Amino acid sequence: MKIIKLPGQLQKICFDLIKKGKTVGLVPTMGALHAGHISLIKKSVSQNDFTVVSVYVNPIQFGPNEDFNKYPRPIENDIKICKENKVDFLFLPTNETLYGKNFSTYVNVENLSQIMCGVTRPIHFRGVATVVTKLLNIAQADRAYFGMKDYQQYIIIKKMVEDLNIRTKIIGCPIVREKTGIALSSRNTYLSAEAKAEANGIYRALCEAKKEIAAGKKLDAVKKNLEKNILKIKDAKIDYVELRNADTLEPVFLSKPSKPSAKNDKKVLAAVAVKVGNVRLIDNIVERLKS
Ligand code: PAF
Repeated sequence: MKIIKLPGQLQKICFDLIKKGKTVGLVPTMGALHAGHISLIKKSVSQNDFTVVSVYVNPIQFGPNEDFNKYPRPIENDIKICKENKVDFLFLPTNETLYGKNFSTYVNVENLSQIMCGVTRPIHFRGVATVVTKLLNIAQADRAYFGMKDYQQYIIIKKMVEDLNIRTKIIGCPIVREKTGIALSSRNTYLSAEAKAEANGIYRALCEAKKEIAAGKKLDAVKKNLEKNILKIKDAKIDYVELRNADTLEPVFLSKPSKPSAKNDKKVLAAVAVKVGNVRLIDNIVERLKS
């Protein structure tokens, strides 16, 4: 595995590979790699001739009062995980090499970036879209892999790639969970053992919502019950509980029977952002409406 720090160096390598007819898969990460990231890496290795993993805690996607400074950075372990999983190139840019001094161009996917997580994190998706555009341009990737825990991020990146004619195919990969249910996240390290046990309740609540959607329960009742179940978690504060069209993130019609129609598409996303103590967690499930 080769470690590359300079964007221009990686870009040249990837251009040369593509000229030779090779495919390149990119797994963009902020490091603190866990089994969720490993599943993305494995998929990329199985589908491409070469895999690039980027590890970069992107400052422009953090708000002023967010956890940029305390975000975990166990770089030696990340290097080990990448080596063990047959990554070809590990890209480790710095703020200086990636953004330089007078960086002033941002990518903003309108509307989709302002809803759900965008309400309390207004600059977050602009930062994500900008860094992902840069990484896709640098790696010239044929495919890029994103975990579906960040479902809104996945939909935003798909839209951005479509709108900007970027050649990369965006591949969404299933959420990886601990046996107890909690979705894996680098931020889970912020949770105490007690809070982590409580946080498993988020998945239990989502599973109940999934069953209810599949059974054809009215969506406003599904939403209310989901909120009620989440509030049973000790020290939980709801940031949002949303039911949306899983393809477009448009709101579903809560008061109508949960049947697919032209306006109320077939797959529903139930997505939540919940603070357990002071740790903000997101999770979701997708279920087909009963027809
Ligand atoms: O999902 C993440 O880890 C980050 O948002 C990403 C896509 C690597 C951009 O910094």
